[in-house]
Amino acid sequence: MGRMAIIAGTGFDQLDELLLEEELTIATPWGAPAAPVQRGQLAGAPVLFLSRHGHQHQYAPHLVNYRANLKALADAGATGILAVYTVGGIDAGLVPGSLVLPHDFIDYTCGRESSYSTEGNVIHVDMTDPFDAVWRQRLLAAGRTLQGADEPPLVDGGVYACTQGPRLESPAEVDRLERDGCTVVGMTGMPEAALARELGLPIAAIALVVNPAAGRGGISLDAMAKVAAAGRERIIRILAAALQ
Ligand code: HPA
Repeated sequence: MGRMAIIAGTGFDQLDELLLEEELTIATPWGAPAAPVQRGQLAGAPVLFLSRHGHQHQYAPHLVNYRANLKALADAGATGILAVYTVGGIDAGLVPGSLVLPHDFIDYTCGRESSYSTEGNVIHVDMTDPFDAVWRQRLLAAGRTLQGADEPPLVDGGVYACTQGPRLESPAEVDRLERDGCTVVGMTGMPEAALARELGLPIAAIALVVNPAAGRGGISLDAMAKVAAAGRERIIRILAAALQ
């Protein structure tokens, strides 16, 4: 039976909260995914889980085999994707710990394998609505219901800039992203979202702001890790509620 798949990275290399039923080692025509696909229950909800960078966080954002990751999830029976990103906040209101449900993206990556098109099989997908409205709404409703009074905001809508990484951006680069209309910046949303679309899988995403983007208030890698750890539980509760 099909089920939604969670794909997550930094801070989520292991999903200890998953009640594991089976681990699926899946080979794809595009190579091996970053980790076995895990099938199990998250707070009673049936899900698939894939660690985007591998369980030891061994694949940097520009080296993740996105095609194998997404195809493995499709082959495991995924009916859609819930993607978790950690991001830098570009918008002034996005204090660390804020959650953003992006509605659009701009892809600044280069040289990544970004399509399943092959010679004789050219795939063009419509990206007018890159993130699925129904699942965005479910995440939003779950997030609002669970919002604690002292918790950083959950923001409905945002434009996700996907940079090549693995280095962070320069302040001038972030200024440019802001002029382009981007509100958060990360390194892994693309080509993941486009590949999901090519496979016919609806995708929605929840982005955890772990730092102000460069030039917007100081970045400490230590502080980023702490915010990621603190936001993790909140995101898992939201995902579990959205999946009920
Ligand atoms: N830039 C790009 N990716 C990120 C950032 C950032 O500031 N923070 C977390 N992932």
